Amino acid sequence: MKIFVTGGAGFIGSCFIRMILAPGQKHSVVNYDKLTYAGNLANLEPVARHAGYRFVKGDICDAHAAEAAMSGCDAVVHFAAESHVDRSIYEPAAAIQTNVTGTFMLLQTAKKLGLAKFVHVSTDEVYGDMAPGQFATEETHVHPSSPYSASKASSDLLVYSYVRTYGFPGVITRASNNYGPYQFPEKFMPLLISNLMEDKPLPIYGDGKQERDWLHVEDHCRGILAVLERGRIGEVYNIGGADIVENITMAKALLRAMGKPETLLTYVKDRPGHDRRYALDCKKIETELGWKPQIPLEQGLHQTIDWYKTNTAWIAGVRGGDYLSYYNKYYGNRDTSLDALAQPEAN
Ligand code: NAD
Ligand code: TYD
Repeated sequence: MKIFVTGGAGFIGSCFIRMILAPGQKHSVVNYDKLTYAGNLANLEPVARHAGYRFVKGDICDAHAAEAAMSGCDAVVHFAAESHVDRSIYEPAAAIQTNVTGTFMLLQTAKKLGLAKFVHVSTDEVYGDMAPGQFATEETHVHPSSPYSASKASSDLLVYSYVRTYGFPGVITRASNNYGPYQFPEKFMPLLISNLMEDKPLPIYGDGKQERDWLHVEDHCRGILAVLERGRIGEVYNIGGADIVENITMAKALLRAMGKPETLLTYVKDRPGHDRRYALDCKKIETELGWKPQIPLEQGLHQTIDWYKTNTAWIAGVRGGDYLSYYNKYYGNRDTSLDALAQPEAN
């Protein structure tokens, strides 16, 4: 199968491409990516010279360029997105443009060209907060809290509308928080690991008791491949790691694994609209497609830490201009701890 992958230079898309071009796989790939701050061709270095790989630089909002690149492909796996919640809070327009309008443009193009399948890669964040003990199934209503999750929920609904209205071959995956090698260090796990490598403080939002379900990126990509090959059109498939951990517990696990002191934990102002808990029920993909996560969290954490420690040049490369200006603009003064804020001001 010739697969049109959008956002293949990002964290998850590049893992998917490396996986499907591994020896023994039978697919070829067109990687269509705009190369935003999050896109990095160094992530594709292991497959850059593979006969079944082609890179096309382009924006999913550009219908003409996307059509030219998609022509001749059999299926779409759509990763391209503005994927960071904090950025979507500070600068929502880019998330709405790429995640909603861009997905709409791609749906139009894939429909026009008559592609056989369109896998839309979405997130558990569309379900919003889960109460303690509650797990979202694919039937749970979407209730997004941030501009990012609202834009992803909107794009999910567009895909679903194309299935119903046009008989379009769309299928949606909703995964939990991914971690693993090559993740841009603005997200929680790589931010903490890269800060610890430099003995910098770990910014913990609010009380740190928010819960996330951690999924190794390779397990996620195996799930997406199963959905691409065998998932039923018009369906949603949850993909979760079944490892639900409080942020503060995760931060302490990283401190222990890297042999650093707890004095580096720094409580900072909470994210507005911060979801407390995400939790997925994944029985559908397990029973229908035989998928299960294979990488235990502790093993995945050690592998991820090792990867960052041995790829310092990669970290330096992505932490350049845009990263620094974003960090200084929005996070520059956030190292104020909540403890400090609770103290009466000196006068
Ligand atoms: P990422 O930010 O690492 O990569 C996004 C990629 O999309 C980059 O290569 C970027 O250059 C590209 N891109 C952005 N806008 C584009 C545009 N307009 N046209 C073409 N390319 C564009 O993201 P990620 O973490 O790899 O996430 C990939 C997908 O998985 C996203 O759709 C995200 O919503 C979803 N997802 C992510 C997670 C997670 O934990 N990271 C969990 C569940 C679902
Ligand atoms: P993040 O990696 O941004 O993913 P998401 O918001 O999509 O779940 O954040 C994961 C969790 O970590 C989330 O509860 C917010 C929290 N967090 C911090 O406490 N400090 C940080 O510096 C960041 C980036 C996130």
